[in-house]
Amino acid sequence: MASIELRNVTKSWHGNQHSVRNVNLHIRDGEFVIFLGPSGCGKSTTLRMIAGLESITEGTLLIDGRDVSHVAPRDRNIAVVFQSYALYPHMTVAENMAFGLKMRGVPQSTINSKVAESAALLGLDKLLNRKPAALSGGQRQRVALGRAIVREPQAFLLDEPLSNLDAQLRGEMRSELIKLHRRLGKTMIYVTHDQVEAMTMADRICIMRDGHLVQCGTPLEVYNYPVNTFVARFLSSPPVNLLGGRVQGSGSALSVQLSDGPVIPLPDWMAEDYRHLAGREMTLGIRPEDFHSHPRSADGIPLTLTVSRIEALGAENIVSGSLGGVDVVVRLDHHTHPKVGAPLPVYLDPHSLHLFHPESGEVVSRRRAPDDPVFTADEVQK
Ligand SMILES: Nc1ncnc2c1ncn2[C@@H]1O[C@H](COP(=O)(O)OP(=O)(O)OP(=O)(O)O)[C@@H](O)[C@H]1O
Ligand SMILES: [Mg+2]
Repeated sequence: MASIELRNVTKSWHGNQHSVRNVNLHIRDGEFVIFLGPSGCGKSTTLRMIAGLESITEGTLLIDGRDVSHVAPRDRNIAVVFQSYALYPHMTVAENMAFGLKMRGVPQSTINSKVAESAALLGLDKLLNRKPAALSGGQRQRVALGRAIVREPQAFLLDEPLSNLDAQLRGEMRSELIKLHRRLGKTMIYVTHDQVEAMTMADRICIMRDGHLVQCGTPLEVYNYPVNTFVARFLSSPPVNLLGGRVQGSGSALSVQLSDGPVIPLPDWMAEDYRHLAGREMTLGIRPEDFHSHPRSADGIPLTLTVSRIEALGAENIVSGSLGGVDVVVRLDHHTHPKVGAPLPVYLDPHSLHLFHPESGEVVSRRRAPDDPVFTADEVQK
């Protein structure tokens, strides 16, 4: 059991340099929470404060309702796995995994059975007598995890544990970690700046910027309903197109006139929510993947893209170009065959548009799209 609660947690250095500012977050027992954000935004510092490796300047940290703000790391019963696995090079896999238990005076027979159990769970049983130098990156990562698991902590904190691995191994380890979380049912907090890891692994993603928690929600909530342009940009690759324009209305219809570009009509349900914006300058957010080579619905908006650059990735094409003078990036399936300099018909899904205030970048909130399935963390099959 371990729920983890941060109340107004702040970390500052030398009195005025802040790494983490006023973070409030309640992590439920057994939840898989991911801290996502650019380099230097305070992810590791937050994790280290939860583990007790860094003091909390202001605020309170509660584990299962108990104030542990000033409790020593060893008394918090939380295991941390770092990016640099920090294995002892002169010890075998088994000795590395056993080390923490040995130091605590756990009887050898108990150690042996726990090491064997974790090794079987992680597929390390045949490697127990090897030294770290004779292991692959993925195997070393598993040993680091095994060393954490044998301690039977009440929560795991993982700081970019997969960032040293190549793309394929990362993918494999990702699914292994998801399975592991399901089997152990323990609270896990995982730090990454990889949006694919965040979207595929998390029950809840917490996006950080400059020490602040910007938004927390299920992966689809933060993807579909970003609170500002920062979140929208972070959860999209290539980044979301942010286009300046003016909202204009006539009768019940509403559209956005892009600066020096085409007019984008808004669907009726969105027009109701955005009518009060008529006449105002706004930033329109369109994700590259919301353009299609064929209309997905009767109200797909037909547009013509003049192609300037093509990145053929095999399964899809990332195409840069101009929509009547407005530069955009679109993501199309590999069945489209764009040519540089040539016009390409594309269709925009109008239900996935976002409007942001041009100065603050905050989203103008709207209701959910009518056919949008609302996934809760429990419903998404991991
Ligand atoms: N001991 C320290 N003294 C002063 N500033 C620090 C210290 N440790 C971290 N910082 C600063 O705090 C900020 C947050 O650092 P942190 O390591 O938490 O970032 P991060 O989000 O984990 O970044 P990355 O993705 O690069 O690992 C950074 O600006 C960093 O320079
Ligand atoms: Mg870090």
